[in-house]
Amino acid sequence: MTQDLSFIHRFEPGTSTAAPLLLLHGTGGDETDLLPLGKALAPDRALLSPRGKVLENGMPRFFRRLAEGVFDEQDVIKRAHELADFIAEAGKAYKLAKPIAVGFSNGANIAAAILLLRPEALSGAILLRAMVPLAKPPQAELAQTPVLIVSGASDPIIPASNANLLVTMLKNAHADVQHVTLPTGHTLTQNDVTLATKWLNR
Ligand code: MLT
Repeated sequence: MTQDLSFIHRFEPGTSTAAPLLLLHGTGGDETDLLPLGKALAPDRALLSPRGKVLENGMPRFFRRLAEGVFDEQDVIKRAHELADFIAEAGKAYKLAKPIAVGFSNGANIAAAILLLRPEALSGAILLRAMVPLAKPPQAELAQTPVLIVSGASDPIIPASNANLLVTMLKNAHADVQHVTLPTGHTLTQNDVTLATKWLNR
């Protein structure tokens, strides 16, 4: 079923016509990582799960970073466009509606970059432990695109101020943002799954 496209990826067809989920893994993950999460969130939706093309000490990522939380912004821009192009390519190949991104950590950050740089590429986004991907993004128009951001109150990688700044950036671009901070760290919890499922079915 999975075709040969510009990103190594997994595609799992769905049984519903609801928007497919675009699963974007964290640092060191791959295209299989978030398939169980995708199935838990929406057992009936199609799942598209690419592998990040950047390697950091052998660990796949979606863009280069200079240090933890310090991003190579030129690479963020290049990779966000590359991934948005893949979304369009896969959409044609598999005859998919515009997907809802479900990103964790580095995957959430590339999804945030796509929202700001290629707002037409996604129909929504669930950003789990996301931070600001670009200090000065161009003014985007997200036209009420729904976005759920779930942060961890004791996340050692992402200060609350940074997550809040991302919320402001997306709201300024007229996204319909819901931001929830859970009493947890960077790792995903059952509460994330519960919240994201409710948001998808709202
Ligand atoms: C990133 O590099 O995108 C963030 O620091 C999160 C991570 O992947 O560790």
